Amino acid sequence: MMTPMPAARPIHRDVVSYVRRSARMNESQLKAWQKYHHDWVIEVDAAERETSIAPHAHVDWTARFGRQAPLMVEIGCGTGHAMTALAETHPQANLIGFEVFTPSVASTLSRLARHNLSNVRLVVADGAQGVEMLFEPASITELWTFFPDPWHKARHHKRRLVNPRFAEIVASRLVPGGVWRLATDWADYAEAMLETLDANELLVNSHDGWAPRFEQRPLTKYEQRGLDAGRTVFDLTYRRR
Ligand SMILES: C[S@@+](CC[C@H](N)C(=O)[O-])C[C@H]1O[C@@H](n2cnc3c(N)ncnc32)[C@H](O)[C@@H]1O
Repeated sequence: MMTPMPAARPIHRDVVSYVRRSARMNESQLKAWQKYHHDWVIEVDAAERETSIAPHAHVDWTARFGRQAPLMVEIGCGTGHAMTALAETHPQANLIGFEVFTPSVASTLSRLARHNLSNVRLVVADGAQGVEMLFEPASITELWTFFPDPWHKARHHKRRLVNPRFAEIVASRLVPGGVWRLATDWADYAEAMLETLDANELLVNSHDGWAPRFEQRPLTKYEQRGLDAGRTVFDLTYRRR
């Protein structure tokens, strides 16, 4: 009798905070991608899936920006509204945006081109891994996570970007005094963020509970959707000791 073939070894996959939807771009996104990705998108070697980062990956940010400057990072920058606004108000900083959904990155490219911004770079990869693997300890001045995917079903909470392990990584990568700004329109996620970040010994809440709305954060369709549905928007600001 023939020995049955062993089952193929499953590809190792960690729990991630996103679902890779079909990454089809519309015509204008395709044009923007082709025209501009060389100017703003940094290629990082991928691991077992397109959006995960290879263990040996490294980026020399000073070389990639052509200057040394404070590093500010956004995870899940979507179509780049906040990135663009913050790049304009922080010309002295080097801004890096992580986004896994390529069509949104293409839309961001059009926006960056319209605003003629040279202090931004984009990485199409998992930003949670990116912060850990592509940044030295105590090297990020500010980190932004605005409206991370809420994963509201209890069985999906493990996929939420903001969790104790990620908080530990962020705290280690922020410079002393560095700032982490967060926003969400899901009350239970907001409570979980507050609890998780309060429990981290290196992070200190800059306010007594919720922060006032970060005035430099433009209103995006995600925030508007939450408001239209009658949800409250919660901002949080923490500082590394
Ligand atoms: C709900 S949207 C919010 C987009 C944007 N921050 C805003 O406020 O309009 C969440 C975004 O985060 C992206 N995302 C989720 N997890 C990510 C990760 N680990 N790394 C990079 N992008 C991620 C998703 O693809 C999506 O574009």
